[in-house]
Amino acid sequence: MNIVSDIQQWREIRRSLKGSVGFVPTMGHLHEGHASLCTRADAENDIVAASIFVNPTQFNQPSDFEQYQRTLEADCRLLESLGVDYVFCPSKEDMYPDGYEVQVSETKIAGELEGEFRPGHFTGMLTVVLKLLNLAQADRAYFGEKDFQQLLLVKKMAAALFLPVEIVACATVRAENGLALSSRNARLDAGQRRKAAELAQLLMSDLSDDEVKKQLELLGFRPEYVATRWGRRLGAAWLDKVRLIDNVPFVERNQKNAAVS
Ligand code: PAF
Repeated sequence: MNIVSDIQQWREIRRSLKGSVGFVPTMGHLHEGHASLCTRADAENDIVAASIFVNPTQFNQPSDFEQYQRTLEADCRLLESLGVDYVFCPSKEDMYPDGYEVQVSETKIAGELEGEFRPGHFTGMLTVVLKLLNLAQADRAYFGEKDFQQLLLVKKMAAALFLPVEIVACATVRAENGLALSSRNARLDAGQRRKAAELAQLLMSDLSDDEVKKQLELLGFRPEYVATRWGRRLGAAWLDKVRLIDNVPFVERNQKNAAVS
């Protein structure tokens, strides 16, 4: 596996590659969810490239950016074991030669739900994803459904800007208790992880959005939103100092309810 941090070097390598390229953009601190994206990319493409870049412009709290765990060595070991051929890990300066004066924004859904509680997050995310997609020149790029609004926005950008890449949606990977895997889960202790799984369980329940919110409050979460959109129920809630997000499709809610009755 080749680890490349220099943009020019990456561009030369990219020009030399023959065959289809699958691309998995990440911010590192990888877990089984990222692993599943890489495994799928490996099965569907000749070459797999992943990126590790903790993108400062999508963090709306500077402390969240600083606290984000950097685990490059462990990440590279995992990526190599998954058959990833190239890891691209550029510097902040190289990714933002314009000082973030050029930005990509969406004006309809980027202000809702996550966008309402994390102002600027989606503009930072779309801007970096466009940069990464332009550098990767991939045939397919893989995104998890865990960040469902992100996935919708990336698909929308790819269609609106005629990007020559297929955006592939991959199902959320969950722990045995139903908790959606996330790099942030590392900040939860064992008891909190058990409690955090209640978010997924409540999103899958028959309760109304408002009732789910109330239940979350009773359990000690600080919910930001619970909403039904895009054929899914989505929710975000704080558990102590950790912000959790999750979403479930209706079909999963119905299957869960059928299993219970
Ligand atoms: O989902 C993430 O990890 C990030 O938002 C992404 C897509 C790598 C962009 O920084």
